[in-house]
Amino acid sequence: MDKIKIHGGKALEGKIFISGAKNAALPLICASLLTDETITLTNVPMLSDIKAMNDLLTQHGTKINEFDDFVDGHSTKTYSYRTKEVESFVAPYDYVRKMRASYYVLGPLLARYGKCELSLPGGCAIGARPMDIHLSSLEKMGAKIEIKNGYIHANVDGRLKGAHIIFPGVSVGATCNVLMAAVLAEGRTVLENSAKEPEIGDLAKLLNAMGAKISGIGTAVLTIDGVEKLHGAVHKVIADRIEAGSYAVAAAITRGRIELINAQIETLRRPIQVLRDMGVNVEETETGLIVDAKGCELTGKDIMTEPFPGFPTDLQAQFLALMMTAKGASMVTETIFENRFMHVPELLRMGANINVHGHASAIVRHVDKLSGAPVMATDLRASFALVLAGLIAEGETVVNRVYHLDRGYEKLEEKLRSVGADIVRVKEDEE
Ligand code: EPZ
Repeated sequence: MDKIKIHGGKALEGKIFISGAKNAALPLICASLLTDETITLTNVPMLSDIKAMNDLLTQHGTKINEFDDFVDGHSTKTYSYRTKEVESFVAPYDYVRKMRASYYVLGPLLARYGKCELSLPGGCAIGARPMDIHLSSLEKMGAKIEIKNGYIHANVDGRLKGAHIIFPGVSVGATCNVLMAAVLAEGRTVLENSAKEPEIGDLAKLLNAMGAKISGIGTAVLTIDGVEKLHGAVHKVIADRIEAGSYAVAAAITRGRIELINAQIETLRRPIQVLRDMGVNVEETETGLIVDAKGCELTGKDIMTEPFPGFPTDLQAQFLALMMTAKGASMVTETIFENRFMHVPELLRMGANINVHGHASAIVRHVDKLSGAPVMATDLRASFALVLAGLIAEGETVVNRVYHLDRGYEKLEEKLRSVGADIVRVKEDEE
């Protein structure tokens, strides 16, 4: 397994181009299953999760073409997807266990073909993450759902039927899945208490470009008038707000200055506010953001994760790392997932002063310095928090299990090196 070695102590300075959003691209790719025409996605990030999703669709029968592209000043990938016929209605365990977003094939296959068998994803490192909201909502639209041998067997006679659904909890995944099902359903579907994350708006935008009739985009109430058929479309994936927020913290924690080109300010209002409240200068530009912490003394802030537009759980670990360098104490409260402080024990090994209370909150106290250590994390964002700690630690930090980072951070070492970080990837066979 590859490792990342970091020698800390450099203030990062320069420009970083923000890639297309992983969590937008994954449902967008699955939306291509809703039509027999071609869906072209530009600004797709080069990540292992995208490759995993492409592999899953290939086994369903989708023909995929990949092109090198140059979008908004940086090199990226464009993919075209065409599913004339589905060869398999089964999303097998071996795919789903590697990437739970595989569940996004359920809504589209059920809507277009009336059937899908999906391996139940099970829990993961950050929480139990059930699918009950996805399934009960599809049942309200007429789907028959049975769980057998670890698989969800979903069927519907004819088309799904529009329904008035009030989601019992705010779920990004359920909103996307049910939205993709509703666009081909018979009649009107109203989805109340929908998640409002920008990635859902991006999905709705593609679906409308394919001929769907969705209104209320960006609000908690989505209204969908089902259509019989969807057609091809071309769509640019929105910028990754979590990647942008992660590099904003890299600027702040090293007391450097980074221009985040292509960062979308409207998707980052809350994290920007927290940075400003802590004492970081954040300037909004025409092309993104400038995060400048040079010479700044930061003050701790309390943060609590919430559905969008609240503070994102996917930036909790990174901001928690930043709080270690701020004056005073900061309370970090996690309300979305029940096990999302797995980075803390590793940070403690580097000299942090953090107390986790139950599963819900952590008190982070200022420390004068961290010292490099071998560390490993159990998920993507936690791994980035360890990279951040490595950037300010004395000596060498070795981050193990780099495959977590490869799922969600395109060209991580290259981007950080371009702003002055001393960071290298060591391949297993080079050791
Ligand atoms: C998405 O996961 C993201 N993944 C996650 O990003 C992100 O952390 C999360 O939304 C919250 O913003 C993708 O977009 C691929 P949820 P998702 O359904 O859709 C509970 C990252 O690091 N719930 O909004 O799975 C659930 O257990 C990742 O990029 C139910 O109880 O999240 C959780 O507590 C990790 N029943 C809460 O809702 C359900 O049927 C929110 O989960 C569905 C969810």
